[in-house]
Amino acid sequence: MCLLNSVLLWALLSTSSCVQFTANLNMGGVTGKVWFDSVSKNLNSNVTGAGNCPDLNLSLSEFPVMLGHFDEPCSQANIGPKIFSFKAPAVSDSTNVSNLFEQRSNLDDLSLTLETCGGAKVCAVVSRADAYMTYQARFTGSIAGNVYIRVNTGNTHVRFLSDLRTIGQVNASKTNMTIYGSVSTAPDCTTLLGSLDTSALIQLGVLKVGTPLHPAKSRFDPSSFNVDMTSFLLHKMGSSYMCARIYVLREKAVSAQVNMRGIQGYFSFRQPSPFDATELRVNLTNLQARVAHYHVHMFPTPQVRSPPQSACSNDNVGGHLNPFGFNTSDPTYPKGPGSTHDRYEVGDLSTRHMSLQDKNDSDVVFTDFNLPLFGGNSIVGRSVVIHQPNGDRYVCAPIGYPGNVVMARAKFQSPVVGKVYFTQLQNEPLSDVSIFVDLAYGRPSTDATANHNWHVHVYPISSERDDDPGRCATTGGHWNPYGVNTTDSSYALHCGASSPLSCEVGDLSSKHKTIYLSPRVGGVDGKQFLTDTTSWLHGTGSILGRSVVIHREERAGPRIACANVTLVRPIKASTAAWFGPGTSRGQVLFYQTSSRGPTAVNVTLTGLNGRAGGYHVHVLPIKSGSVEPCSNANIMGHFNPFSVNVSTSPDPGTGTVDQYEVGDISGKFGLLTGLNNISSLYMDSNLPLSGPDSILQRSVVIHYENGSRMQCADIGAENTTDRHWVFAKAVFSNNVSGTIMLSQQTLPDGTNSELTVEADLRSSTLQNASWFIMEGRIDANNRQVQCGNLGMTYNPFNMTPMSSSCSQDTPLSCVVGEMSGRLGLLNLNQREVYTDSMLQLAGDQTAIYRSLVLKDGQDILACSNILPESASAMQIFLSMEDFSRFDFRKRVSEVLNVTMPRVSILPSSLALVAGGRCQQVEFIVSGEFTAHPPPLSGRGVLRSHPLTPPPPSDNCQG
Ligand SMILES: *[C@@H]1O[C@H](CO)[C@@H](O)[C@H](O)[C@H]1NC(C)=O
Ligand SMILES: *[C@@H]1O[C@H](CO)[C@@H](O)[C@H](O)[C@H]1NC(C)=O
Ligand SMILES: *[C@@H]1O[C@H](CO)[C@@H](O)[C@H](O)[C@H]1NC(C)=O
Ligand SMILES: *[C@@H]1O[C@H](CO)[C@@H](O)[C@H](O)[C@H]1NC(C)=O
Repeated sequence: MCLLNSVLLWALLSTSSCVQFTANLNMGGVTGKVWFDSVSKNLNSNVTGAGNCPDLNLSLSEFPVMLGHFDEPCSQANIGPKIFSFKAPAVSDSTNVSNLFEQRSNLDDLSLTLETCGGAKVCAVVSRADAYMTYQARFTGSIAGNVYIRVNTGNTHVRFLSDLRTIGQVNASKTNMTIYGSVSTAPDCTTLLGSLDTSALIQLGVLKVGTPLHPAKSRFDPSSFNVDMTSFLLHKMGSSYMCARIYVLREKAVSAQVNMRGIQGYFSFRQPSPFDATELRVNLTNLQARVAHYHVHMFPTPQVRSPPQSACSNDNVGGHLNPFGFNTSDPTYPKGPGSTHDRYEVGDLSTRHMSLQDKNDSDVVFTDFNLPLFGGNSIVGRSVVIHQPNGDRYVCAPIGYPGNVVMARAKFQSPVVGKVYFTQLQNEPLSDVSIFVDLAYGRPSTDATANHNWHVHVYPISSERDDDPGRCATTGGHWNPYGVNTTDSSYALHCGASSPLSCEVGDLSSKHKTIYLSPRVGGVDGKQFLTDTTSWLHGTGSILGRSVVIHREERAGPRIACANVTLVRPIKASTAAWFGPGTSRGQVLFYQTSSRGPTAVNVTLTGLNGRAGGYHVHVLPIKSGSVEPCSNANIMGHFNPFSVNVSTSPDPGTGTVDQYEVGDISGKFGLLTGLNNISSLYMDSNLPLSGPDSILQRSVVIHYENGSRMQCADIGAENTTDRHWVFAKAVFSNNVSGTIMLSQQTLPDGTNSELTVEADLRSSTLQNASWFIMEGRIDANNRQVQCGNLGMTYNPFNMTPMSSSCSQDTPLSCVVGEMSGRLGLLNLNQREVYTDSMLQLAGDQTAIYRSLVLKDGQDILACSNILPESASAMQIFLSMEDFSRFDFRKRVSEVLNVTMPRVSILPSSLALVAGGRCQQVEFIVSGEFTAHPPPLSGRGVLRSHPLTPPPPSDNCQG
């Protein structure tokens, strides 16, 4: 029809062209399409499932429906008022709608609503087959909300779509506001408003403004508008203007890469904008009829563990994503494809589209009308689980993000333990922030409590000591950059999930849910995955650098726990200098964005001369000065923490990454056989750069084809100018002999990298020992303070000794000093490397100047003090009542020209000396610093740059 008409028209007039606007219905049991022909001015329909009445009630509304976002997607609150109504049969090709085309020529982004004979409302977005661009601007303040600008190819057919409401007034009525555009090149709204030339503003149109209880969606189609030229939207409030920057709202394309138990491939998801349907692709191989259903589950998968499928457990990834609360065991729940997509759980992909039962491969694409990648029910950042035919979880994979992200986290240590992660796309401050909460009580004896309020507070914790009991009081009030009035009665009435801009940005419990805390660490009850649409992670007003505070149960006020929101840096490592007889050059680089994502392995090697075969991560780093650096005696065999039986591994380069030893890079991705050069990038979800199975500080070996060792190199953590190493050492002699080296990097925001322990101990009688960090240290001058008498096991977070909830995967509920609880026994038979996330060398909870005790059962085998290898010094000064640790560290950092997080005060400081007249403080400084200002040696430096007040005094000598 359209085509025919357009050909005819072309022949007759060759001016106007034919456009067909289509609405694809898939909701409430109704499927099919309704389309409008701009030339014949007819409506055509082919709809099933709407009942048997002669005519259907159809209407068009101003705003495009957002599928998967709301319980009642087609209500006026969600699609705006009706602008045109008509009746048409379910199947028709000639309903005249010339009245409609007289009113408007562009139907793009209207919603078509169909009322079935039973009175149910279903709706769909109207669009022509064309490429769209979407832009977004967000107003905040007393009129707040989003304005979306949509344009077609060539910047044509512009429409402004809005969701605006008044904030902070109980009895506000609906109003209008005039929108202006600015083509200013100012960098931001503050600059623009600082010198606003109102005569240069372009009046664009009028948008409706609703209230939180009566939202108003609205739209205008400006006759001309150049979105590429316009950077800001403004509206007038009294005598001043409010401004919102225009951002591109990018298409989201994400995937879950499956690489487990022999199954390879991906689920990919693509949604151009919140107003479009989602494309789902299922591309999987080697299923071998082992699996059937697959779903989007609530939470991202954790770091690799053994067996691999244990990562997919209910405690880890939770149940299906099901925001509308469907009951799959209800007899009316569909058994397979055929119903409309809104009648399934959002996460139930396979029942909606296709089961994988009896299949070996799959490569299919589906259009999904209920699978949002935007907003509160977004699947981005969660996971996909593929189940066996009997329902057991077989494999799982995290759903990634549609670009580079900023990730931040708040790490809680006492009495609440766990982490809250915040993730947002880089440089897109209006994009969704996913918030993953995983919190519990660290002590198993604590009773579960519910309804804890939690908020982002204005300041980071700034107490004098890291363990100050009043530390959460130092964080100020809730983060509320728009000054939303919380004492007004409108706050409780309006602030909520459906009106987050009526809330303080930091009020996470009101925007989302309160927190439930039980002593089941790592359990599913303590997890939440939220998508926040009104906070951001970079630039002015970002929540990064502030803190998260958890309040008492039942929404009570007192603060029970707090943690700073700090940047999660990607972890990078690379091979250092090569040793051994081979002459190839190059590097293997490792890069892991977050502990939950895969490690990128970038292999660039030259000069292999066709002589190389396999290459692997080996257990130990090279011992400096060794005669045969690459030998088994030196660096041992392949790193294989999960004890994979290599005889069951598939041929190199054919299986999935979990089917090989963690260190077997050539097994996972293929041998170097016959190659001279290689330059390849692999993604490996079974090669962690953090956690107990980290490959950091181990080594890489390239073997000859016959298996003997050609070359080896250490795997070193990235060094950047703002990371500073702290080193410490414990030396043992007598019945256990050797050394333990501890190393850790301090970061500028006061956080630390994980700690590496390189132990090189021998015992003539024992293979291994349990190991503990004790509060106190051995005093060579005092026979009372020896191995058996070093105080308590170091427990700064007051966790339960030998706790049932302490394990390798839940280190935060372990007593810090109980090393064996997290890392297993200490090897007394050979060198060994351990990676620990709990023990610190810097900060107030440093292990330096404490002691390490080795035990065999209850018997103490040996003990040693942990002594600094980094620069350390002692300062003695006249006793002062109000010694400030902060001022002291600040002063030292100024004198040495280093950042403050690099200066740590050591335990047992402030001891009285010189008969009580004086005090001494011992401290360490991480990293290297130049000899100017003067080097720290003994007490020299601070004498020449005295502390204020009081200066060091010679009265303290002796
Ligand atoms: C209506 O749609 C169905 C299913 O897509 C199709 O089989 C049928 O031919 C269509 N009928 C008309 C009149 O277009
Ligand atoms: C808003 O504007 C519409 C038309 O643009 C007008 O009909 C209506 O009266 C206005 N409402 C208010 C409250 O100004
Ligand atoms: C499925 O994915 C694989 C890569 O994993 C790709 O080689 C193949 O072409 C894809 N199938 C199709 C039909 O695109
Ligand atoms: C907040 O609302 C209360 C109650 O309506 C009012 O008394 C107070 O002045 C308001 N505060 C601000 C800063 O506007």
